[in-house]
Amino acid sequence: MPIELVAQNKPPQISLTVAILGVQPFRQSLWYVMAKKHMHASFCWTPWPSSICSSSPAMDYREQRLAVVVFFFLASWLLAAVVVGHNDHGVHKNYLIIVRSPYEYDRRVYKDVSSWHASLLASVCDQAKEELEADPANAPRLIYSYRNVVNGFSARLTTEELGKMAQADWFVKAVPEKTYQLMTTHTPRMLGLTGPTIFHAGVWNRSNMGEGIIIGVLDGGITPGHPSFDGTGMPPPPAKWKGRCDFNSSACNNKLIGARSFFESARWNWKGGDDPVLPIDESEHGTHTSSTAAGAFVPGANAMGSGMGTAAGMAPGAHLAFYQVCFVGKGCDRDDILAAIDDAMEDGVDLLSISIGDDNAGDFAADPIALGGYSAIMRGIFVSTAAGNNGPDVATVANEAPWLLTVGAATTDRRAVADVKLGNGLEIRGESYYQPSTYVSKLRPLVRDTAADGTCSDKSVLTSEQVSGKIVLCYTGGNMTNLQKGSILHDAGAAAVIIVSQDWAGSVISPKAHALPAAQIEYKSAEKIQVYMNSSKNPTARLVFRGTVLGNRVSPIAAPFSSRGPSKQNPGILKPDITGPGVNIIAAVPKPEGLAQPPNELAYKFDIMSGTSMAAPHISGIAALIKKAHPTWSPAAIKSAMMTTTDIRDRRRMPILDSDGHHANMFALGAGFINPTRAMNPGLVYNLSAHDYIPYLCRLGYSDHEMNSIIHPAPPMLCAQQPVVEQKDLNYPSITVVLDEEPYAVNVSRAVTNVGNGKAVYTASTDEVPATLSVTVTPSRLRFSAVNEVQTFTVTISSKNVRLKKRITEGQLKWVSGKHVVRSPIVVSSKKFFQNQKNTTSTDQHTAG
Ligand SMILES: *[C@@H]1O[C@H](CO)[C@@H](O)[C@H](O)[C@H]1NC(C)=O
Ligand SMILES: *[C@@H]1O[C@H](CO)[C@@H](O)[C@H](O)[C@H]1NC(C)=O
Ligand SMILES: *[C@@H]1O[C@H](CO)[C@@H](O)[C@H](O)[C@H]1NC(C)=O
Ligand SMILES: *[C@@H]1O[C@H](CO)[C@@H](O)[C@H](O)[C@H]1NC(C)=O
Ligand SMILES: *[C@@H]1O[C@H](CO)[C@@H](O)[C@H](O)[C@H]1NC(C)=O
Ligand SMILES: *[C@@H]1O[C@H](CO)[C@@H](O)[C@H](O)[C@H]1NC(C)=O
Ligand SMILES: *[C@@H]1O[C@H](CO)[C@@H](O)[C@H](O)[C@H]1NC(C)=O
Repeated sequence: MPIELVAQNKPPQISLTVAILGVQPFRQSLWYVMAKKHMHASFCWTPWPSSICSSSPAMDYREQRLAVVVFFFLASWLLAAVVVGHNDHGVHKNYLIIVRSPYEYDRRVYKDVSSWHASLLASVCDQAKEELEADPANAPRLIYSYRNVVNGFSARLTTEELGKMAQADWFVKAVPEKTYQLMTTHTPRMLGLTGPTIFHAGVWNRSNMGEGIIIGVLDGGITPGHPSFDGTGMPPPPAKWKGRCDFNSSACNNKLIGARSFFESARWNWKGGDDPVLPIDESEHGTHTSSTAAGAFVPGANAMGSGMGTAAGMAPGAHLAFYQVCFVGKGCDRDDILAAIDDAMEDGVDLLSISIGDDNAGDFAADPIALGGYSAIMRGIFVSTAAGNNGPDVATVANEAPWLLTVGAATTDRRAVADVKLGNGLEIRGESYYQPSTYVSKLRPLVRDTAADGTCSDKSVLTSEQVSGKIVLCYTGGNMTNLQKGSILHDAGAAAVIIVSQDWAGSVISPKAHALPAAQIEYKSAEKIQVYMNSSKNPTARLVFRGTVLGNRVSPIAAPFSSRGPSKQNPGILKPDITGPGVNIIAAVPKPEGLAQPPNELAYKFDIMSGTSMAAPHISGIAALIKKAHPTWSPAAIKSAMMTTTDIRDRRRMPILDSDGHHANMFALGAGFINPTRAMNPGLVYNLSAHDYIPYLCRLGYSDHEMNSIIHPAPPMLCAQQPVVEQKDLNYPSITVVLDEEPYAVNVSRAVTNVGNGKAVYTASTDEVPATLSVTVTPSRLRFSAVNEVQTFTVTISSKNVRLKKRITEGQLKWVSGKHVVRSPIVVSSKKFFQNQKNTTSTDQHTAG
């Protein structure tokens, strides 16, 4: 039997003693006493599977967590006791333990999965065994016992215990703890709002706003009581809802129907730090993403007094279930993410919106979003995830599993224009969301930071004598944030600041809320200012505020920070899948920081953020609308509907640009920019059942054990008995092939399901295929006579020109009927291309704004 032991460290001699000292006080804490009082249990710790033992109601982990919540409500003054319990000395680590799938627990022996997992743990862990003997209700080493997402549990172990566990025949592997991150950068902290922002026409079908659909959001915290989460006029959640609200009773309502916090894994790493204030803390990120997906209508929302409008999420009629798995400054623990998905599934969510990830998450068998996501789609739960913010470097995309929707970010058509007019008449386009009416637009002396690197990071040059009454040019960077620089400049009496964006951000500007009048400009525009300043003895400038301008024709543009393909885990699948609005997105926040004196109450409640974190919930909300309109569609069908109907041209009808001014490629955009109106009615869909991924996973090289832990709780399978399915042949809405060997031709098979109005004839079109490729489709015409009819076809892709070697070539396959165009991107590349990407991938973490 293959055994994979991921941990490698040899245990230090003293480890066990220290561990016992570390955990012991915890057992005497009130928490422990309460848990004991709550449950009377007898527990079987005998090593599985040899013995038979009886068990009466043991405390399952739901109950444990309930006890935890109660504990914090009643006795927050005893926090210290618990914290002491967390002070272990570095010899224990949290592991996700995967169990062989044929080893299902025996219901006759164990009350539930949790008691079974506890017995497995006790069989290798002396201390866990003692604890169980002493008190069967107490199993602090068992952090989570998973029911839906994976056949396994997470536990706190020494490497010695881990070594013992690796000998057990039920053991598959142990994956050490890992922390994930929210996929955002706290870009600007600008106040404001415009109306239903991104889409001006046709997003909302007035008879479908996502009513009755439950969107589960995993994030860092939410703000109950915010007008975006007002339940007035909302019906109660559907009967299938089994979740709960850990807030006080007044916080949840028919909009925010559930709110829970998961930190059992994370708390071990906080090492004496404060536990989160239960039940949930308010966070900008989670409030923003939740309101983007399903925020209620908020009339009168505004941007610093201008741009009065109505704010709303993409599915304003949908219910929100919030799962807190990330904590400020601490990230998001893998095992907490898994536990939240495990529970969300049983709570009854219809969709999951996850703006969390890690571009080095590893394979699908160790990644909580891939593991949990598979179990979710098995149950028909759609999962929308953020692609990550590590662009524009290639091969940085996260959340790559083909059953997830991976969302990249692009700009919207809204700009808050703040131009810079130089003394020589030259005008430079800039942006700023804070445009005070009190600013007097007259020419003033223009100065720059010449002392150091131009970033204005040296406080000693930002003195009153230097900057008072002047306009100061500052590059992004140095050891201060732009906001800090703005604040210092404000205090030193500067009239205004011109902020220069980073070079890598290209034409995409993410302005912040500064304490003084500001304009943020592109990196390359700054050169013009430098030339002027070099040539002028007394350079001058003024800012010209032009307000919020909608309808920018050069939009969308791929966001520079949006993570790019190709996918490292499955290069035969195009990732990201799709792009949504993710730059300068205005949505709900607890309270924006940065600006003083907002003109009215609502200006306190909205802010601008950028990131793929902001793009994913847009798509989640739109998926809710599609699900509402087509309740029987599978997650794959909903995904296909969105991917085959995207926009690939901007408002000028030119190909969508990347932030560097070149055409954005498919590794930036995926299938293109979401077009919600068309996605409601795609004509055909590329469907997949959960089962279809099994041969695919086998072909990717996953062992039977790994594959089975991914597909859990589906019954175990053997790869040897599966058909062979190449990556290119997975019935995906995009086509990715490698073409670098004789005969420079490849066949790709696909099947489409008719979801239009019954009879339809579709003709294949390859008019958007470059001349270097030959794409033929057999048959080239598909006739459907009924809804849900499935037709198969083969696409033969060959290269007329063998010099494709190091490059990628892109085209489009279209199925065209009188009413629909069903478009699939085609990416042709070479092994060499992928190898080069892998070797040159940089790990630089960019932060936007
Ligand atoms: C309940 O929650 C609401 C909203 O967060 C808050 O305003 C209120 O003070 C809370 N009430 C109690 C008793 O904690
Ligand atoms: C920040 O950088 C400037 C020079 O660019 C330096 O003078 C200053 O000491 C630095 N401050 C800190 C806190 O490192
Ligand atoms: C402007 O002058 C500075 C030196 O004073 C020089 O470093 C810089 O390259 C010049 N920039 C341009 C755009 O001419
Ligand atoms: C609105 O959606 C409903 C179903 O959700 C559909 O029957 C109706 O045709 C849609 N209306 C428009 C204008 O798309
Ligand atoms: C897609 O496949 C799933 C699973 O086999 C099935 O339930 C569904 O009806 C199919 N069609 C659509 C349009 O989702
Ligand atoms: C593609 O399929 C056609 C028809 O089945 C076959 O003749 C051809 O050899 C195949 N090409 C490749 C590269 O497999
Ligand atoms: C990249 O790495 C792979 C193996 O890791 C190697 O085979 C390949 O030659 C490398 N490519 C380049 C361009 O260095």
